[in-house]
Amino acid sequence: MADFLLLYYSGAGNTQYVAGYIKRTLEEKGHTVTSIFAKRNTCIRNIEEYDGIIIGSPVYTYRAPPTLLEVIKGLPQIEKPIYLFFTKGLILGNSAYEVFKILKLKGYKIIGFSDIIMADTLFLLTSYENTLLYKFYLLPNKIFKRKITKLPEKILTAFDKNTEVQLRKKIYVPLTNFIARKFWNQTKKWIPKFHADEKCTLCGACVELCPRFNIKIEDNNVIFGNDCEFCLRCLHRCPEEAIQIDNLTQKAPRYKPNRINV
Ligand SMILES: Cc1cc2nc3c(=O)[nH]c(=O)nc-3n(C[C@H](O)[C@H](O)[C@H](O)COP(=O)(O)O)c2cc1C
Ligand code: SF4
Ligand code: SF4
Repeated sequence: MADFLLLYYSGAGNTQYVAGYIKRTLEEKGHTVTSIFAKRNTCIRNIEEYDGIIIGSPVYTYRAPPTLLEVIKGLPQIEKPIYLFFTKGLILGNSAYEVFKILKLKGYKIIGFSDIIMADTLFLLTSYENTLLYKFYLLPNKIFKRKITKLPEKILTAFDKNTEVQLRKKIYVPLTNFIARKFWNQTKKWIPKFHADEKCTLCGACVELCPRFNIKIEDNNVIFGNDCEFCLRCLHRCPEEAIQIDNLTQKAPRYKPNRINV
């Protein structure tokens, strides 16, 4: 039986859902899985004690989230097998390649890779709950369900085979970046517009949830800093649905993990 480290990052919860499924399934098969959520300043210790590492990430703006990249850059140089999985709305971009490149330089051996299409947690905000568009956005969770349920077995087979895989830079990325650049620039302009509305009970959950430690409560006010990577974790998971971006999200559906419905 093997001892795995499962390092993952997640905003609204898709990657966390898949990570949780992998952990439960591997543990049912008798393996040990230590899961760590990558936050700013997360430092991984005793990596040499694990037989294998599994890393999970979402795709944001065709890239891996900066927080996960920082944590991966902080890993020690050591030869260990790693399985990578990504969740995405549609386009992987160079997210996986970026992670692959950093790990290779550190001496890790990438022995498997999967990318899974799931509901796009950004586009979901452009719909209203229970409308056709909302159901359309959630559709990938049903269509690609088998990719998730088969993943633990795929991971175990890859660790057994222990054969290195190569990831290549995607040549389409400059074009997709060019097409989407206005939209990505717009998301940056929304960062200072995060706020908690009158539904906020000052429960403090968002302070704990933010992977960047970018939210604090002071003088009975929720305060958002500028160190935000737009993961939408706070917005989707606030128990009161009180977090808003400007006046754009008041009627937008929240994507709580119990609604992932995979
Ligand atoms: C700010 C932002 C940017 C995104 N950019 C992309 C992208 O470039 N390509 C893509 O396929 N999906 C993109 N998505 C969709 C997410 O990758 C997808 O919903 C993922 O499963 C979210 O995982 P999480 O809930 O663990 O954060 C984006 C989502 C957000 C919030
Ligand atoms: S999680 Fe929501 S209700 Fe709780 S403090 Fe943050 S904004 Fe307020
Ligand atoms: S403030 Fe919200 S959207 Fe920004 S990084 Fe923190 S949890 Fe994510």
